[in-house]
Amino acid sequence: MRPSEGAPVQTVPLVPPDPFVQAQPGARGAVASSPPARRRAVQPARIAWERISAPLRERLGTRILFIGITGSGKTTGVKDYLAFLQARGLIEITIIHDVKKPTPQYPGRVLYDARGIFIDPPDKYPATCVLRKRNLDHMPSVDGAARVVMEMGYSDVTACLVIDEFQRALTDGGKFESAQTRKLFCEGLGLHASVIATKQMPQLMPTEATGQSAKVYFKATREGVNYLIDDRKISREHGDALLGLDVGEFTLVPEEGDFDGEIFRVPAP
Ligand SMILES: Nc1ncnc2c1ncn2[C@@H]1O[C@H](COP(=O)(O)OP(=O)(O)OP(=O)(O)O)[C@@H](O)[C@H]1O
Ligand SMILES: [Mg+2]
Repeated sequence: MRPSEGAPVQTVPLVPPDPFVQAQPGARGAVASSPPARRRAVQPARIAWERISAPLRERLGTRILFIGITGSGKTTGVKDYLAFLQARGLIEITIIHDVKKPTPQYPGRVLYDARGIFIDPPDKYPATCVLRKRNLDHMPSVDGAARVVMEMGYSDVTACLVIDEFQRALTDGGKFESAQTRKLFCEGLGLHASVIATKQMPQLMPTEATGQSAKVYFKATREGVNYLIDDRKISREHGDALLGLDVGEFTLVPEEGDFDGEIFRVPAP
């Protein structure tokens, strides 16, 4: 990291050794014999955003999963990443499926159906549309939104679908319920159509999504970490890092690559 970037260097708070607990190497709060365990410097999120947005500079689509327990900072992270992309002209249209909270979590023009964008196109770009429920019985279609994003990509507009809670596109068993979202994950790269999905638990996700996506891991539970380790998705060292993250901190596993010990932090909202 360049000194001018000035990110604060965070170290592990040293705790007195507990003679009854065998510390895990690398675990936060672990006490090594000598020298004391130190957490690596936390890097600004934009370093990670540069990496995962690299395909967009070649006009390819990207697939990114933001995974972490509730309140770990996923939505705040996605917002920061979208602002990064838009400031650099890397994305022209973003459609966000955002029905979780009583008010929109993301800034943008509210739509109830993604096709509304064709009826009344944005007058300036980059543009963001937030898909919301019209009433108690209505749910905007993730499938329809994925289709619109691919149609835009096909007509040479760089577009991105954000699914704030991936479960909206999945069955309870963790398969794709939305065929168009599956297609977006499988074929979006060549259409410069991108997808970002957030998920609280790493379990029950389709392999078409996990196998082809960059993964941004926020804080996890012990159960989630054990699942990821048992399923050979992450190393023990990576699991220890996830358990020690604070809100807004994350690790990165690029589409083709592994965790290399780095921890990043999203700026506070
Ligand atoms: N980078 C950050 N720095 C400081 N505080 C943060 C950061 N990110 C999030 N927070 C705090 O944590 C709260 C929850 O964040 P956020 O909504 O992003 O979590 P989430 O992982 O999306 O949760 P959920 O799974 O429930 O949707 C925010 O309202 C904010 O107060
Ligand atoms: Mg959220």
